[in-house]
Amino acid sequence: MHKHQSELAVPTSVLFVCLGNICRSPTAEGVFRHRLQQAGLADQVRVDSAGTGAWHVGKAPDERARQAAAGRGYDLSPLRARQVCSHDFEDFDLILAMDQSNLQDLQSLCPVEYQHKIRLLLDYAGEAAEREVPDPYYGDGDGFQRVLDLVENASDGLLSALRG
Ligand code: 4NP
Repeated sequence: MHKHQSELAVPTSVLFVCLGNICRSPTAEGVFRHRLQQAGLADQVRVDSAGTGAWHVGKAPDERARQAAAGRGYDLSPLRARQVCSHDFEDFDLILAMDQSNLQDLQSLCPVEYQHKIRLLLDYAGEAAEREVPDPYYGDGDGFQRVLDLVENASDGLLSALRG
């Protein structure tokens, strides 16, 4: 009897992916971690984030992303950017892209046997009209609130999906 496995449906590890890993995917990591903690599931789901690009590797999330997140009670300050690497496709059960460009980049890097793990984050956002989390990096501050709105919505759907 594998009792611990009955407490949560698979998957049990999630990687959020954007371009730079300093705005959208660390926001998703912080929000979803917080949701898991509230649900008492933090020990059962591994969560990480990464970027398809390498420009910001080692950096903390963008100041604007950190401030917007802090305004809603999420602390992104411990996070550090890293690039997606080949073993992520084996290591994670679910790999969630912020936009179509990230999705295509991941699909082109991913071995055929793991392609099924890759999806758009907003596939979990229920009836939302959008399928993509827009890149806020070059826009105004509103873009970061929009990221939070979309990520919070999708996080609720993702948590429900993990619970079966
Ligand atoms: P992210 O935003 O993909 O949400 O982290 C970006 C951050 C940096 C750049 C682009 C997008 N950049 O071109 O440096």
